[in-house]
Amino acid sequence: MEQILTIKKLAKYFDTKMVHEDVNFSLIKGETLGLLGHSGTGKSVLLRSIIGLESIDRGEILYRNQRIDNLTEEELFSIRTKVSYAFQSGALFDSISVFENIAYPLFEHTKMSEQEVDAKVMQILKIVNMEHARELMPSDLSGGMQKRVGLARSMALNPEILLYDEPTAGLDPINVEMVLEVMRRFKEQGFSGIFVTHDIPAAKKICDRIIILDKGKVRFQGSVADFDNSNDEFVKTFQIFD
Ligand SMILES: Nc1ncnc2c1ncn2[C@@H]1O[C@H](COP(=O)(O)OP(=O)(O)OP(=O)(O)O)[C@@H](O)[C@H]1O
Ligand SMILES: [Mg+2]
Repeated sequence: MEQILTIKKLAKYFDTKMVHEDVNFSLIKGETLGLLGHSGTGKSVLLRSIIGLESIDRGEILYRNQRIDNLTEEELFSIRTKVSYAFQSGALFDSISVFENIAYPLFEHTKMSEQEVDAKVMQILKIVNMEHARELMPSDLSGGMQKRVGLARSMALNPEILLYDEPTAGLDPINVEMVLEVMRRFKEQGFSGIFVTHDIPAAKKICDRIIILDKGKVRFQGSVADFDNSNDEFVKTFQIFD
């Protein structure tokens, strides 16, 4: 089992406020890891730390055997083609079209021709069922559509690891299933993911393992069956969402 991402003794503070004190876990190649925790436990901060959008105070983050927590902007640029973050909000650029939003990382990071970019953008839009929105502006889209376009954009560079920050939150049941299906297909291609969510049934459908953050540490770690069978009072507070 290859560890494609490793978090070691990670600590993160905002001034004196502790978010992470001692977080340790690994992401195994090909798995989808569910990352749970009550609101404010630092799930988004953790994902942002992994792709270098937040600095960390102690510990290490490794991509395969390479430290990625202390990289220059230039080095991060290359890591971000391998490790991609689907923002909690979608985070599209408001002033450019859906097409341009997805094409942007392709022009930025690859030497693809305009035709190749065009074909790739259409292929990705198809995956999230948004072909019709190609020429629309983000402000013309519903929140759920913006999320799907954001997810599409995060897949544009064929990353090996996708960090999904609540990709199903606020979506209607049909769109939830669509997003889960996109995540399943990504996993079927052998890629890995960290799935941050408050949607426990969705996590159980998609994830191989589950981790729960609490008070700056990994409080629980195990398979979905371990999660279901846990008698820990704290873990039980998550089971009741089934
Ligand atoms: N830039 C920042 N400056 C100061 N505090 C921050 C900053 N970003 C996050 N925090 C704090 O860090 C803590 C963790 O935030 P984070 O957004 O990671 O929580 P979360 O687990 O993703 O919550 P949710 O489930 O609600 O999305 C919170 O207390 C938050 O207020
Ligand atoms: Mg969050």
